Amino acid sequence: MERIIVWYLRMSVIYFAAGAVLGIVMILWPEEAGYYITAHAHLNLLGFMSMMIYGVGYHILPRFSGRNIYSPRIMHIQFWIANAGLAGMALSWPFVARGDVSQIFNTALLISSFLSLAAVVLFAFNMLKTIKSA
Ligand code: HEM
Ligand code: HEM
Repeated sequence: MERIIVWYLRMSVIYFAAGAVLGIVMILWPEEAGYYITAHAHLNLLGFMSMMIYGVGYHILPRFSGRNIYSPRIMHIQFWIANAGLAGMALSWPFVARGDVSQIFNTALLISSFLSLAAVVLFAFNMLKTIKSA
């Protein structure tokens, strides 16, 4: 298996653990939970689920279609964009949810959200091109 694909899968499992730990923390401190729901939900759904699908997709699709991935370069760049985006979202969202006065967290959330979106678009483009070439 390609090294970058192994890293997609590794990061997926790490986000799963982080999301689950945050979930337990939310159960233990219910009065604080509200600030962390969005970080928890996206660590699990964008981190664990989507990152797993990115990795498995990149591994399986070329084998199903009998063609190489359209752009291994996009696959590598997307990994860093997706991780920077999600880490930024998960770290800044609780501050934004608290209504923190500092504008820096709003800006960080905005930028990291666009990075996450860019990763989704890159994945969709790479997958569609790979399927088409089959
Ligand atoms: C150890 C595992 C987990 C624990 C302890 C946990 C705990 C929690 C808690 C306490 C909430 C807040 C509920 C509320 O006050 O409204 C929550 C919300 C949520 N969790 Fe988890 N969770 C776990 C795993 C997962 C997983 C694996 C996923 C997705 C793959 C997930 C997705 C969500 C989502 C989407 C919400 C937000 C739901 C809403 O919009 O109200 N959670 N979780
Ligand atoms: C480009 C990446 C994404 C961005 C920028 C984004 C943004 C958002 C925003 C702004 C909210 C509303 C939060 C609030 O109520 O304050 C939200 C909620 C939610 N999103 Fe996303 N999202 C992204 C990707 C995803 C993906 C891939 C999934 C599922 C696979 C997902 C599932 C959810 C769920 C279940 C909620 C409701 C959970 C909650 O109550 O916080 N999101 N998202």
